[in-house]
Amino acid sequence: MAEESLCPAPPFSYVLERRLSRREALRAGAAVAAGVAIGPLVARGSAAAPARERTSGSTGLGFTPVDPGSSDEIVVPDGYEANVLISWGDPLRPGLPAFDIRNQTAESQQQRFGFSNDFVAFFPLPQGRGLLWVNHEFSLERLMFPDWDPENPSKEQVDIALASVGGTVVEVGRRPDGRWTYDWSSRFNRRITATTPTILSGPAAGSRYVCTEADPGGRQVLGTFANCAGGVTPWGTVLSAEENFDDFFDFSGIKEGKSLAWKAHREYTKKDDGGAERGWHRYERRFNPGKEPHEPFRFGWVVEIDPYDPDSVPRKRTALGRFKHEGATTTVARDGRVAVYSGEDEEFQYIYKFVSTGRFDPHDRLANRNLLDNGTLYAARFYDDGTGVWLPLVFGSEGLGEGEFFTSQADVLVLARVAAKAVRATPMDRAEDVEINPLDGHVYVALTKNQDRDSEQEWDRANPRWPNSLGHVIEIIEDGDDAAATSFRWEIFLLCGHPSQLVTDLATDDFRETGAKDTSYFAGYRDPAGLSPISNPDNLLFDRAGNLWIATDGQVETLGCNDSLHAVPTRGPERGRVQQFLRAVNGAEVTGPCLTPANDTLFVSIQHPGRTDHSDLATATSHWPDGDRNAPRPSVVVVTKKDGGIIGS
Ligand code: FEO
Ligand code: CA
Ligand code: CA
Ligand code: CA
Repeated sequence: MAEESLCPAPPFSYVLERRLSRREALRAGAAVAAGVAIGPLVARGSAAAPARERTSGSTGLGFTPVDPGSSDEIVVPDGYEANVLISWGDPLRPGLPAFDIRNQTAESQQQRFGFSNDFVAFFPLPQGRGLLWVNHEFSLERLMFPDWDPENPSKEQVDIALASVGGTVVEVGRRPDGRWTYDWSSRFNRRITATTPTILSGPAAGSRYVCTEADPGGRQVLGTFANCAGGVTPWGTVLSAEENFDDFFDFSGIKEGKSLAWKAHREYTKKDDGGAERGWHRYERRFNPGKEPHEPFRFGWVVEIDPYDPDSVPRKRTALGRFKHEGATTTVARDGRVAVYSGEDEEFQYIYKFVSTGRFDPHDRLANRNLLDNGTLYAARFYDDGTGVWLPLVFGSEGLGEGEFFTSQADVLVLARVAAKAVRATPMDRAEDVEINPLDGHVYVALTKNQDRDSEQEWDRANPRWPNSLGHVIEIIEDGDDAAATSFRWEIFLLCGHPSQLVTDLATDDFRETGAKDTSYFAGYRDPAGLSPISNPDNLLFDRAGNLWIATDGQVETLGCNDSLHAVPTRGPERGRVQQFLRAVNGAEVTGPCLTPANDTLFVSIQHPGRTDHSDLATATSHWPDGDRNAPRPSVVVVTKKDGGIIGS
């Protein structure tokens, strides 16, 4: 149960006593970015990785796996504890009353933790404290408002929803008894919402697709939403990825064939009224593309935010391309350029990599401020022989010449998925999170599922199932172990599923004939008794030992059990041995797994508890975390080992 369900007493007065000045915090951010605080904020490419990291082997896990199942509680292995850190509606300012679902206002929501917590990033502060960045992916009105009527949403409800998405910066630390809590009075606490002034920067800023009546210059956007996963830059900023932005617009007012804008939107959504039920378009003109056809082009970007500076303005980095970004995972190439990997979570869409023109300067934080505004965006093509290439999305190159959609590089970036298709990148099975193994720089991509891949003709070795309802994980090894490489090798790491369907060798063509529907493959691991079932991989995380952590989205439909968090070694005899670590509550998805640099604390987002296809507050399948008949509340959970040890060890 959330101790913050009542307006909390000052959770760590010692923090108040030692309150950092803003200048000190900025210095802390710079120190962290320079790697002098606790450890690197991101996995480094091979050139940047210290030799000691690259010679140590992985690992093996030291916990007893959690059984798959369904219940309205968080389940972790013996020897661990899971506590709610912060929940939807918890105050981020002093003087606010305890959250009351029957007494919400937009003004209050602007100062409270948002809904649908997703990606979590930890930014160290001195003395073991830190700032958490948390994405808030979407509003879910039927689980937010007891009197919700989709036919007649009120203006206040729409304004509350606008304030419930985006992201949160919140300061966290340990109390004297060692338990983690958040500081509701921290000066760093901040909400970024669908109305926060945000700058569009990089090559597409000011270009023809992104100008609107309200912003004819095409550089000033109101807010961010659909913030799914993300990443952390080596200079200590967060990248928040805008994913299913079309769910917030009502496209029914803009008719097919009448405009270039409509044709361009059709490349990104088949939904005429994806956002109609939300009702934002009823009160905000910009959410009706019939009236403001260009507003959707201002979403679907990666947003960079400096959590150490509460006054910083979020910037949408258009050089990274516009698509339904699941996340944005950063590493440093051999020559110091910065690579950002991002999957697009939609059937038959692509995996992308951005490589900066400039180089990361570990000694001057400000020098990296606009590194992500210039570079080359690539999309991946996977060949069946286990090799692949990164295809540059450059205006004027083959397939990307002048035409109706493209008149400039800015247009290529705004319609990046159209460009990726034009250069014949490989359509994937809903690419989700990407993470980079700190031991060897290998890149792992979760592919959650693709039920639309339904024939032998759509088969390829990188997406070897039809239909693919269980999902898989692919491993990419950049040529020369260099994140800036334009070619790579790849192999399947996991075909998710039940261990009873285990195969240990994928070197056969049989899959093409059978669709491999239920076959599971765990990187060649041979003992089904030692494996936990897993499906629908979504968010990923690496620990320092090189174990991959995998959060799931959709196991109820495919395995009949609640979504969960698993860990799997990537090296040595235990490679592929998937073990379930945590089980979420009913109706929830597990998102945002995040470890502190010391790996002794794990933050996990429990997103949309109680959600089923049509559940509302009267029929929700969860009352977590407050229990009794209380409404379910999305929350971030903190997991620690009772002996204070390393998570997973
Ligand atoms: Fe928002 Fe792809 O999960
Ligand atoms: Ca996700
Ligand atoms: Ca991740
Ligand atoms: Ca998801």
